Amino acid sequence: MLERLLRKKTVVPDSSLADRITDVKSRNIPAHVAIIMDGNGRWANRRNLPRVAGHHEGMKTVRKITRIANDLGIQVLTLYAFSTENWKRPKLEIDFLMKLPGEFLSTYLPELIEQNVKVEMIGNSDLLPKHTKKAIEKAMKETAHNDGLVLNFAMNYGSRLEIAETVKDIVALVADGAIAVDDIDESLISSNLMTAHLPEPDLLIRTSGEVRLSNFMLWQLAYAEFSFTDVLWPDFDEACMLNAIEEFQMRNRRFGSVEGEKNV
Ligand code: IPE
Ligand code: IPE
Ligand code: MG
Repeated sequence: MLERLLRKKTVVPDSSLADRITDVKSRNIPAHVAIIMDGNGRWANRRNLPRVAGHHEGMKTVRKITRIANDLGIQVLTLYAFSTENWKRPKLEIDFLMKLPGEFLSTYLPELIEQNVKVEMIGNSDLLPKHTKKAIEKAMKETAHNDGLVLNFAMNYGSRLEIAETVKDIVALVADGAIAVDDIDESLISSNLMTAHLPEPDLLIRTSGEVRLSNFMLWQLAYAEFSFTDVLWPDFDEACMLNAIEEFQMRNRRFGSVEGEKNV
């Protein structure tokens, strides 16, 4: 009996999740949440499974977190799925990671369409295998007219590469005489990044206990609130997402000023 009660206590019933969602929604919801989805390999290692099993399990978390982000009225959810540095991994793992967008989208695209989610991507798609690029492009095309949550995958994304490319584009504008050197300011740089059309992230979440950015959105995160959790990505669930947003709602964002008000 006691054992049953204890077991019951650890399960978060749907109704309590719904109450928390209502509560969180009554306060300030971050417009853009960016997540460094980390810890898939360790999740698998702990179960004596190959690393790729962790990546596969992580896909289910992507589905869960997309749904709750949509329910909460978050405008943009950027998910760091593959970095420009991840090419250093074993070929077998890279091949598996490159197949995941296709598998994820072939399973969940109808659901994303039904939820009015718009799929987008940042990163250099030139180096992606054809099948990966095709799957993402198909999803982008089929959701292009949706105006709900933007589900933005950072795929072969590296912030330094993005900034270097932006510098090249701006230099070309100057060389063509389209702009003068004095026209180069912060907003011009922002509007030439891959995220030009998106609001800057308000909240960055990184799972798995690592406390670093790993070349993710270095420019865009200048004033984001950071939330780090030891939970591994495959174990990150709706309750973890609500924890991060509640933490965000308690923060006092001052943006360099002194008149910070509680962020609620
Ligand atoms: C994150 O999990 C997924 C990607 C980087 C693609 P990891 O594969 O980095 O998992 P850990 O950090 O080795 O546990
Ligand atoms: C960052 O995770 C990249 C993604 C989540 C896609 P990594 O696991 O590659 O980062 P490091 O190597 O720990 O810095
Ligand atoms: Mg990692």
